[in-house]
Order: sequence, then C-alpha cells, then structure tokens
Amino acid sequence: MFFLRTALLALAALALGVHAAPLVPRATFKNPIKPGGGADPWVLKYGDSYYLTYTTGGDVRVTKSSNLAQWAQTGTQVFNAAGRFGSVWAPELHFIQGAFYIYVAMTTTDGNNANHRMYVLKGRSTTDPTQPFDLVGQITSPDNEWAIDGTVLIYGNGRLYFIWSGWSSGSDQLNQYLYIAPMDSPTHINGSRVLLHSPTPAWQRSGSNGVNEGPEILVHNGRTFLVYSAAGSWTQDYCLAFMGIDDGKDPLVASNWWRLDDRPVFWKSDKTFGVGHASFPYDRNGVPYIVYHGMSDPNAGWDGRTIRTQSYGWNADGSPAFPSPVGTDVSLNLPA
Ligand SMILES: *[C@@H]1O[C@H](CO)[C@@H](O)[C@H](O)[C@H]1NC(C)=O
Repeated sequence: MFFLRTALLALAALALGVHAAPLVPRATFKNPIKPGGGADPWVLKYGDSYYLTYTTGGDVRVTKSSNLAQWAQTGTQVFNAAGRFGSVWAPELHFIQGAFYIYVAMTTTDGNNANHRMYVLKGRSTTDPTQPFDLVGQITSPDNEWAIDGTVLIYGNGRLYFIWSGWSSGSDQLNQYLYIAPMDSPTHINGSRVLLHSPTPAWQRSGSNGVNEGPEILVHNGRTFLVYSAAGSWTQDYCLAFMGIDDGKDPLVASNWWRLDDRPVFWKSDKTFGVGHASFPYDRNGVPYIVYHGMSDPNAGWDGRTIRTQSYGWNADGSPAFPSPVGTDVSLNLPA
C-alpha cells in the first residue's frame, strides 16, 4: 500500500514535470567577475568558448573561459605595445570574414592623449584568439583626428562600418562625439566620417567635458541598436545611452538614426556607480548579458573600476531592458 502510494506520487510528479526541478541548487556568482580591477570589458563568444579582453594600458590581453561570468585575473598577452605605443585603451575582439581582428586605441609612447588614434591588429590563428596578433596599422577616416573606442557595425547584407568616439578637431578637446565611416575591408575605412551624436544633453556632460564613447552594436529582432557610454568615465554618473537605426536605412545618413536623448538606459544604483562601456554576449541558453565596468565607491575614479555582469530582458519593441546594477553582495544565477 505504502509502495503504491509512493509510486502514484512519483507518477503524478512526472506528469506535472516536477521531476525537472534540479536536485542541487543552481550555481551562482557574485560581481565582480574578474579578480582585481578592470575596465572596458569586451566579451566574444566563439565556438563554445568565451573570450574577454579589456584595458590594461600597455598591451592587449585575451582570456578564455567556458563561462561568461568566470574569468581568471590575468589573460594571455596577444600584443605588446612596449616601445611602440602608449596608453592602450579598450581593445575589442571581432571575428569577421574568417579572421580575428582587434580594434584598439593607442597613443605615442609619451602617453600624450591628444595623439590617440585607432589601430587594427590581425590574429595569426584563425581559430584561437589567445595566439599572437600582428599590427596591421592605423584605421582612420581621411581627417585623421583623435579617435578611440572603435567598433564594427556589420549591417544589412554584410556591409562593414566603423563607429568610434572622436574629437571634431584638436581645438575642441573637451567634447567627444560619435562618428561612423564606411569600410571596404575589416582593416580599412574608405570614406569620410559622418557625425552620429554630440554630447549635448546635460546628463552626458561632466563639468566642462561632454562625453560620448564606447559605442557598441546590439542587434535584436531585426533591429540595430547603438548603445554608447556617456558622461565622464571618472565619475559616478558614467552611464549607457541609446540610439538606433531600422528598416535597412543607410547608416551614413545621420538623420536615418533615432536617438533617445532625454535619459540613460543603464545607470548607477545605490550600490554600484559609474557603470558603462558594456558588451553584450549571450549565454548558451540564449539569455542576454550585459558585461560592463562599475565601481562600489562612487568617488574611486578610474582605479575603482571592476568588471561585472548581469542578465537583462527585452521590451515589447525588441529593445533591451537593462536592469539596475546590483551590488557585489548579491548572488546571481551562473550563466549557462
Ligand atoms: C567603400 O567600400 C564599399 C565596399 O567595397 C563600397 O560599397 C562603397 O561604395 C565604398 N565607399 C566609398 C565612399 O568609396
């Protein structure tokens, strides 16, 4: 009798799908996701692995992991700028047309910020981005003005565009704008730059600086979003802002883009400050994650930044619905 009752309960549980409940609690993680400091995180999923690169200042490092929320403190050096360049900022690793490329801002060895320009590196291996990268050269529009934080938009039927943060000229060093230009290969721009956004809204300004930087492309449900960072990266108000383009319109026509200028889409909480410079990988179940840097001390500045992640959802119109950044005390489900 007792056995029969147990068997019936087990059958009922099966029918209800209760057996699918995990036998052990789901693994969790807490932020930050990389020990030690870090800024400008960029995560690429390639094959069944994840690869992280971030700002080190003197070289480019790539770290491999099986999970997008678990990273070793130190990555593999794939490019050493010593003796050739200074202030190596915000590398991005892309796999385009069968090869790995890293887009990175570097300046002269004296560290003079006014000399920052974008450079492109090409991976020697077409399967393993922790192998060495070679310098291809500078990537610039004909104006050759100051440029950082370059990224690639692959649009429509595969056309490539470079999008970056730049000065209008060397005589306007307090404002960073977003620009776009056409590419005719993953290593070359073949047209003039077009101004996409100016740091005009008050919340995109810190003191006398207006900052639009860290542009990143996020494609979802056939829509193309451009998520960028705004306000001073050294302040607690650093945040993410939003614009986009739809219906296959020409991205080189600035008026074809819509802009959300009245508010940020991801900003500080009472636990986590200065959040920005994000990238947007998916876990193996297709759950979207925002990988960004932030700080626990609102006044810590650049040295207080660490690399963090959190899952997010989607709004009815297909746009990302970013969460409020949790503190380092909160346990989150480990990404699949
Ligand atoms: C740049 O190259 C692309 C791809 O080859 C080409 O379609 C486009 O017309 C070129 N643009 C200019 C301004 O030359």
